[in-house]
Amino acid sequence: MTAGSAKAPFLWHGGDYNPEQWSPEVWREDFRLMRKAGITAATVGVFSWVSLQPAEDRFTFEWLDHVIEGLHANGIKLILATPSAAQPAWMSQAYPEVLRSDENGIRRQHGQRVNYCPNSPDYRRFSANIARKLAERYGQHPALLLWHVSNEYGGTCTCDTCAARFRTWLQAKYGTLDALNAAWWTTFWSHTYTDWSQIMPPRQNAEFLTHGLTVDYFRFMNESQLDCYRNERDILRSITPDIPITTNLMGAYKPLDYRRWAQEMDVVSWDCYPNPNNTPSDIAFLHDLTRGLKDGQPFLLMEQTPSSQNWQEINALKRPGVLRLWSYLAVAHGADSVMYFQWRRGRGSCEKLHGAVIEHAGREDTRVFREVSALGAELQKLGDSVIGAAVEAKVGIVFDWDNWHALDSAIGPVRDKKYLETVRKHYRALYEKNIPVDIVFPDSDISRYQIVIAPMLYMLKPGFAQKIEAFVANGGVFVATFLTGLVDENDLAFENGYPGPLSRVLGIRVEEIDALYPDQSNVLVMADDSGSYTIRRLADLLHTEGAQVVATYGSDFYAGMPVLTRNTFGRGTAYYLASDPEPAFLDRLYGELLDQSGIHPVLHVPQGIEAAVRVKDDRSLLFLLNHTPNELKIDLGNEVRRDLLTGESVSGVIRLSGFSVGILEQHTSQ
Ligand code: GLA
Ligand code: ZN
Repeated sequence: MTAGSAKAPFLWHGGDYNPEQWSPEVWREDFRLMRKAGITAATVGVFSWVSLQPAEDRFTFEWLDHVIEGLHANGIKLILATPSAAQPAWMSQAYPEVLRSDENGIRRQHGQRVNYCPNSPDYRRFSANIARKLAERYGQHPALLLWHVSNEYGGTCTCDTCAARFRTWLQAKYGTLDALNAAWWTTFWSHTYTDWSQIMPPRQNAEFLTHGLTVDYFRFMNESQLDCYRNERDILRSITPDIPITTNLMGAYKPLDYRRWAQEMDVVSWDCYPNPNNTPSDIAFLHDLTRGLKDGQPFLLMEQTPSSQNWQEINALKRPGVLRLWSYLAVAHGADSVMYFQWRRGRGSCEKLHGAVIEHAGREDTRVFREVSALGAELQKLGDSVIGAAVEAKVGIVFDWDNWHALDSAIGPVRDKKYLETVRKHYRALYEKNIPVDIVFPDSDISRYQIVIAPMLYMLKPGFAQKIEAFVANGGVFVATFLTGLVDENDLAFENGYPGPLSRVLGIRVEEIDALYPDQSNVLVMADDSGSYTIRRLADLLHTEGAQVVATYGSDFYAGMPVLTRNTFGRGTAYYLASDPEPAFLDRLYGELLDQSGIHPVLHVPQGIEAAVRVKDDRSLLFLLNHTPNELKIDLGNEVRRDLLTGESVSGVIRLSGFSVGILEQHTSQ
């Protein structure tokens, strides 16, 4: 069960509520409308710092007392946020070093949000203090479900305070300056540091090309912001040991290594704002990534817009039914809540045109309010049948933030490495087959999987290759691609060639890497003449050292050289895919690997329907999601399942209307 669900054992329905922007009269209307919409949890306090502490020595909690009482009286649970994502102006004015510095090391002025230096002692002191006051005042409140620390940590600071802390962090990591110089390869361009004080954060008007520096600064900044979170978390935990703690993450957000964050959180939560070009597969990937952060533990969907975003170039409305569809998409992939940003649209400032459950007209006779209310009623009907249920996957796809940073800082062989895009492309091939996938990390236990795919794992951390060797030796199937195994954890190239320590299990040696212009392509030709496929972007020129050649390049001076190899290693096999193929090839490759491994789709469904499963005790919950606007038929076979949304028993051929959803329960012990 998700941490926190003991007090509220159902799928939470709610979202960000900013009563500090409104009068008590509006609050009363909010409570009435929340009840009507089936809202069960409200996130309060995000960005309310100046309303709670208008001056350094003055606190004004009374309004919050009333709001919390009002929510409680109306049966709405509380997710209480600490307000530390935006410091009040008085603080920036009196303690200017709380302000963040920009990419040139120049201190920013007060304003916007997340504009604090994560290493500022004053910021740490004030944020700890307000967290303590909130915990002391509301920690015992019966409505309190969860602490929501700050909001969307992120970005970076390059100020002198951070520079000094960075040096201390480096001293602890490397011990000596010689060791640091060696790890960062600083004899290049005469960059050798001769005194610790010469080390500066990467700044755009100074040094930012030393890869050891940039990857270490990313790690340091990640830890610095995590320290801010831990600073508040530890106080909350000491005062309210039974209240779980989270902070809202942002999916595949590059500046922070969420795998490390998740280890410090009781429950992972995230804010889902798809880009206009994201497909359901892309969104599902982010849910799976988030679920993977705590090794499969269900997560909270903390924010999504009920209708439109406002910060994209063009902000389309979610079509009728899509809010519900995407809410269940999240639930199908492991979410134990459905929540929104925001409850009520503010009248001013930069989010006044962001979608909300209650729009400026304040009415309940709107499409959005009706859709939210209908969903609220449905979630209540589902009760505790879904929460805590697991997703069981036999395929893992490796994702790594350090690798992402290292790849993007590498200059050559192409500028845009497209790491996230490539991982998502491999994911999509499995998603479209309705194969559950876990996103895993270099430190994950992979022994439970049958297939592990590691696209573009350019940086190999110590121990990873041994883990893969053991996995394959035990019968696992491993797939690696181009740009794998070039550098170690310090971003230093492996001395014995690519793919570094993975060479043995893959049975190959890469000699050169070709980069193709956007209008160029090559061909992957199956060695058994069973087909050929277009390949683009990058092409490793490799030699087998024990592996068999499955496919070769069809043209150019390396025609006939291997482009896909298979190595038998112990009881398993390891594949190396040396170029970026058209989707049809991944569809074929994974189709064959799944067949050989005996892994079957959740259900055979028409294209456009997604079938996903969560498992709880002896029951499996089949989610059928129609991502198309058209009615489609699905053959359930002879087995009888109970439709949790209608209560009816179903089997055989059923119809699912456009953008609609079915949740079918089946007892697995029968
Ligand atoms: C984020 C923030 C919210 C709000 C929304 C708008 O997720 O957490 O405060 O700004 O974006 O989409
Ligand atoms: Zn700083």
